Amino acid sequence: MMAPADDIDRIMAVMQAAFDPAYGEAWSRRQVEDALLIGNCYYQIAEVLGEPAGFSLSRHGFEEEELLLIAVSPDFRRRRIGEKLLVQCKADARARGARQLLLEMRSDNPAIHLYRRNGFVQIGLRKDYYRTPSGYRLDAITFACQL
Ligand SMILES: CC(C)(COP(=O)(O)OP(=O)(O)OC[C@H]1O[C@@H](n2cnc3c(N)ncnc32)[C@H](O)[C@@H]1OP(=O)(O)O)[C@@H](O)C(=O)NCCC(=O)NCCS
Repeated sequence: MMAPADDIDRIMAVMQAAFDPAYGEAWSRRQVEDALLIGNCYYQIAEVLGEPAGFSLSRHGFEEEELLLIAVSPDFRRRRIGEKLLVQCKADARARGARQLLLEMRSDNPAIHLYRRNGFVQIGLRKDYYRTPSGYRLDAITFACQL
């Protein structure tokens, strides 16, 4: 899915505000641009009064889609913006032909509560999969949601 430069600006504004640098999870602008150039990646942006508040980015494959990133700026959290993005992503993925939505997250991310209440179940655990910039190892959990 091609994205105009100002949409990338809005995604990056949320990216920089939302991700804790301690985990090194934020993508660079180049990574976002490259993903969207390939053609099987899709994004959505949530706005509040014209200001970018959240976004999601997913990659469609045969009968499944992977949620690559979902983020809401700290100023807009706990207003169900993340949940709306997730629900819409599920609907869009289903409309694109996916039967399940997959995602991977570090095991200590509180986003787990958002995923669990929205139909995701754990299907895998990768021990010590992530390494933080300061050298810590963290497990990765794989979640799936049937669509
Ligand atoms: C995860 C994230 C997207 C949630 O966005 P949000 O808009 O605040 O989430 P919502 O308001 O839609 O949350 C809906 C429900 O999910 C659960 N939930 C969401 N965030 C939670 C948290 N930090 N702790 C506990 N439960 C949480 C709650 O049940 C919440 O309902 P409630 O507020 O009525 O209790 C946001 O915290 C974020 O951007 N985090 C940093 C980026 C990140 O780690 N993304 C995920 C990995 S890519």
